[in-house]
Amino acid sequence: MTYDIALLPGDGIGVEVVDATLPILEDAAERGGFTVETTRYDWGSERYLEEGSMMPDDAIETLDGHDAILLGAVGHPDIPDHVTLRGMMLPIRKAFDQQVCKRPSVLFDGVESPLRGYEGGDIDFVVFRENTEGEYSDAGGREHRGHPHEVAVQTAIYTRRGTETIVREAFEAAAERDGHLTNVTKSNAQAHGMVFWDEVVEEVAEEYPEVEVERLLVDAASMDLVRRPDEFDVLVASNLFGDILTDLGAIVSGSVGLAPSANINVEGHSPSMFEPVHGSAPDIAGEGVANPLATVLSVSMLYDHLGEESAAADLWDAVAAQLADADAPRTPDLGGESGTEAVVSDLRTRL
Ligand code: NAD
Ligand code: IPM
Ligand code: MN
Repeated sequence: MTYDIALLPGDGIGVEVVDATLPILEDAAERGGFTVETTRYDWGSERYLEEGSMMPDDAIETLDGHDAILLGAVGHPDIPDHVTLRGMMLPIRKAFDQQVCKRPSVLFDGVESPLRGYEGGDIDFVVFRENTEGEYSDAGGREHRGHPHEVAVQTAIYTRRGTETIVREAFEAAAERDGHLTNVTKSNAQAHGMVFWDEVVEEVAEEYPEVEVERLLVDAASMDLVRRPDEFDVLVASNLFGDILTDLGAIVSGSVGLAPSANINVEGHSPSMFEPVHGSAPDIAGEGVANPLATVLSVSMLYDHLGEESAAADLWDAVAAQLADADAPRTPDLGGESGTEAVVSDLRTRL
């Protein structure tokens, strides 16, 4: 079997972590008995500065031919974020109907949480984030720019299809895991979109009587992810709430440098995209100290999605083994002094 994977390193540490991960991606494929062909597209902010666009006009058609996409990160300190992200990453999620964003937060053995009293395995939850609509909808506009009566409108859109899809995927996962689902909402303040969201959760819940459903307002959920992160199993949240809660989930389980994610096209008609949760980290870009493990774990999720469960498990287990080894190299975000390359070289010996 040969898979054709598109690489979009992007910007900043995105390039560093994707480049570093490539040899491991290939090692795991070889062990798993399949072949990976990668095509690298150097799209992103440098291209924007030279040519005026983040991606070529036919980018979506080009990517559509691939089995999956591995993305590093997008974002440049000299270009407004809404220009870079609306020019590259967000349009891919939408064009390929990647409605489901799956983001696990796991406290691995050997990793210290900034929260007191938690050990490896105590924190293990997954956020299902709606990924193509909600607060990230491109509906709105600006009028009367520069005038005192200037107005900006940004409309959140919740469709039945989009909401049911993310909610159903979350229930499926909860049924397979510990049978506990937290619906993250804000229906006390947002009486249209979020009340609709809650109704969809209640409807879908009837199909999963074995899943216990808890409803938390997003402000309380933020507090409880710090107060009792060990009690969560599956959370389902809108696009913006899911974005915020997954950085919180990343840090309570040790570092954003360990947080992977999957943007899934559930119908399988277009490629899914895998990427670390973190951004291009301009504050450390170029220093060779970015943690590559979030990207390695994202490749594990990619292989799992392609049905290569054994390669996926090999990668996940190798990361877990490295983190559990107190003598293994670690990047500074985990309290170590090693660089990206040292972590990757060590990891290759553990496959
Ligand atoms: P960020 O995730 O890039 O960085 C936040 C903090 O975490 C920084 O201190 C950074 O050094 C640290 N960090 C992140 N990844 C790390 C890693 N692998 N190893 C060690 N430390 C790591 O978030 P930000 O600073 O808010 O955003 C920077 C740029 O990235 C912005 O342009 C933003 O829009 C963009 N961004 C892109 C994505 C994406 O492409 N998926 C995600 C988030 C932010
Ligand atoms: C993420 C990022 C993106 C998001 C930004 C860069 C648009 O923060 O993938 O978490 O909000 O989805
Ligand atoms: Mn984010």
